[in-house]
Amino acid sequence: MELVESGVKLGVLASGSGTNLEAIAQAIDDGDVPASIAVVISDNPGAFALERASRRGIPTRVVELKDFDDRPAFDRAVIDELLLAEVDLVVLAGYMKLVGPEIVDAFPDRIMNIHPALLPCFPGEHGVPDALEHGVKVTGVTVHFVDKGLDTGPIIAQEAVEVEEGDDLETLHNRIHISEYRIYPRAIRLFAEKRLVVEGRHVRVLPG
Ligand code: GRF
Repeated sequence: MELVESGVKLGVLASGSGTNLEAIAQAIDDGDVPASIAVVISDNPGAFALERASRRGIPTRVVELKDFDDRPAFDRAVIDELLLAEVDLVVLAGYMKLVGPEIVDAFPDRIMNIHPALLPCFPGEHGVPDALEHGVKVTGVTVHFVDKGLDTGPIIAQEAVEVEEGDDLETLHNRIHISEYRIYPRAIRLFAEKRLVVEGRHVRVLPG
């Protein structure tokens, strides 16, 4: 039987475990998101995300910074892979590199990221520990379009997560993950349904 792919084509960039990748792939398989994952690209050959993709029969590519003369050349190689796979939307799922300006220009308002805090609070690599150390009572998850800044792009969706008495990094991040697995597939579905309209800093969500 021939597999008929439907919906938008996603290119997922991941550096680590890939549990968000798994949640997105599962939501697609469950028929909740009209999309397919055309390629998973990692800058880390040891990323478990690659293993998760392979198990699902999703093509994978490794693009490592060390194989290129400079950062722009590395970014161009990532763009080439995304174009080759004809992706409509680039999905960052624990990608530990700042997306270079050339990638942003190649996919305007077509790159999404998930951040484990309520932006604009606690941007950067350490969103969960920074929130915990600051002593906030509520943190959360943000899905946003990627611009040329660090976690500064227009916000698509957010969900609050309460910090509980006695939380440590692991317990808090676990609950943040659960929220991530819920809102990332939803945001991708809204994109696939052409319901996201970017107007400056604001993302309007059209009714379904
Ligand atoms: C997630 O918490 C995400 O918010 C952050 O990196 C983590 C990736 O986790 N950007 P995983 O690789 O999807 O398990």
